[in-house]
Amino acid sequence: MAARQQLTPVLRRLQLPRAAANINRTRQAALQQSLSRPVRCLSSSRPRCFHQTTAVAATAKHTSETYPDIQRDARFAQLTPEHVAYFRGLLGSESAVIDGATSSDAADDIEPFNSDWMRKYRGHCRLVLKPSSTDEVSQILRYCNDNMLAVVPQGGNTGLVGGSVPVFDEIVVNMSRMNRILEFDEVSGALVAEAGCILEVADQFLASKGYIFPLDLGAKGSCHIGGNVSTNAGGLRLLRYGSLHGTVLGLEAVLADGTVVDDLCKLRKNNTGYDLKQLFIGAEGTIGIVTKVSIQCPQRSAAQNVAFFGLESFDKVQQAFREAKSQLSEILSAFELMDEGSQALVRQVTNNKRPLESQYPFYCLIETSGSNADHDSEKLAAFLEDVMEKGIVADGTLAQDETQIKSLWAWREGITEALSHLGGTYKYDVSIPVKDLYQLVEDTRARVDEAGLLGDSDEFPVRAVVGYGHMGDANLHLNVSTRRMDPRVEKVLEPFVYEWIAERQGSISAEHGLGLMKKKFIGYSRNPTMVGLMKNIKNTFDPKGILNPYKYL
Ligand code: FAD
Ligand code: MLT
Ligand code: ZN
Repeated sequence: MAARQQLTPVLRRLQLPRAAANINRTRQAALQQSLSRPVRCLSSSRPRCFHQTTAVAATAKHTSETYPDIQRDARFAQLTPEHVAYFRGLLGSESAVIDGATSSDAADDIEPFNSDWMRKYRGHCRLVLKPSSTDEVSQILRYCNDNMLAVVPQGGNTGLVGGSVPVFDEIVVNMSRMNRILEFDEVSGALVAEAGCILEVADQFLASKGYIFPLDLGAKGSCHIGGNVSTNAGGLRLLRYGSLHGTVLGLEAVLADGTVVDDLCKLRKNNTGYDLKQLFIGAEGTIGIVTKVSIQCPQRSAAQNVAFFGLESFDKVQQAFREAKSQLSEILSAFELMDEGSQALVRQVTNNKRPLESQYPFYCLIETSGSNADHDSEKLAAFLEDVMEKGIVADGTLAQDETQIKSLWAWREGITEALSHLGGTYKYDVSIPVKDLYQLVEDTRARVDEAGLLGDSDEFPVRAVVGYGHMGDANLHLNVSTRRMDPRVEKVLEPFVYEWIAERQGSISAEHGLGLMKKKFIGYSRNPTMVGLMKNIKNTFDPKGILNPYKYL
């Protein structure tokens, strides 16, 4: 009965879209005009997706100060003017070398390459190199290997685990100048591009051909496809298009000693020996620098619909997910989860009007992508009506056009940015069986509260403990939002969170990777045999350990 009372206003909102298919076609036509091959991707030397507010410290503390137990590896050489001269001679162009080693003017230019997106980690790098070809990457690495110079491969620097910035004085090899789309097969959907191509640019190019990049995430305007492959990024549509372990067809990479590994296969099937490219997917720059990627891209759907709804309990979220899979099956392309705490923070930062009139403990965003707008929207409307009648969903709304689709997505995609505006964040990215997924947020909140660290006023370091994530992939993002970074908070959270996950045989890194943050915790999700084999792989590909030291293993 309660559901029936809610249904009328919702159904009014359900009077619905024909717009999506047309909008997609219009957008494609515009892109077709604006893009010509080969495409140079835009890239900024300041790798940020969003502007930073004054609430956040302009610069982070140096990592070496925050974690004094990490010591510089004395085997690595100190950078000399001779080294810098070699790189200048090799790369030629002024813009390819940012030199803070022999010039004192470069401090401001180097800073964005030293600090991570969250402003949690900060290195002491004095030299940034921006190669423009595989051959240049190869020569850089050969020289570094011969001279024991440590290197951090860097894409768009949007990583969330401190993997993309140096800890000490490692040289940053930034891939932003290797940003060309090289080939696209309009029949098979195989795209070949350089690693520094920005994800959104690759996707816009594909849109002009009627295809879609099989990965989408909030940092798409800054992250590189080489960075995506190197972190094995999951994102918002993994539920539909699967992991990069399945969609990457081939890649080219350069090993620490300069050897070029050419595995740039464009075939869907290739069972000729070990599938070595898989080792580079998710290797976070520890065994080589990815220079080119070949990826299988699906047809872009003509129709897209988005629904946003409120639910009274996590149990109901699970029921809704079950119903969505069964009723929307082949057109379901995303099923995302947000708790009230995360939405309150987005509201606080953006001041935008909430999608629903009332507040609920949980919200879900469902996206469908299919070939027939009318059919898909009818299916989605029928689904929403059904789950409301069954009392699973308390209230819901359907986007009427592309503007509304974007604005509903912003409530999910905007959480990371909103958090970054409010101070520091301790971020955990975990995977556990769905039934336990949200319990972690509740247990963590209780623990932080018991420790006297959580409160509404300034004296408490923690503002909120929130959860959101990719429900469709059993991937939760537990975020502890702080007014300031405080070692007491980290002590309460670690290893508590990792132990909690290990007890449930979960993963402490579902999609963001290990980086610096989780290096010492790998044992909570991988047994000693696995870690031993990983170390053997690292030693085979990078025997001197120059690639991304202090991270991962
Ligand atoms: P970087 O941050 O530059 O690097 C990440 C790691 O890869 C580092 O270890 C670096 O050394 C290595 N690396 C980079 N390029 C290369 C290369 N060419 N060869 C070898 N190693 C390389 N992640 C998800 O999985 N899902 C999400 O939904 C998601 N959403 C995000 C939303 C926001 C707002 C932000 C800021 C980040 C998000 N991330 C997400 C995290 C991040 O992993 C991704 O943004 C992205 O995959 C990183 O790409 P990048 O080019 O910025 O890599
Ligand atoms: C997301 O899903 O929004 C990203 O993984 C980023 C985050 O965890 O904040
Ligand atoms: Zn995510």
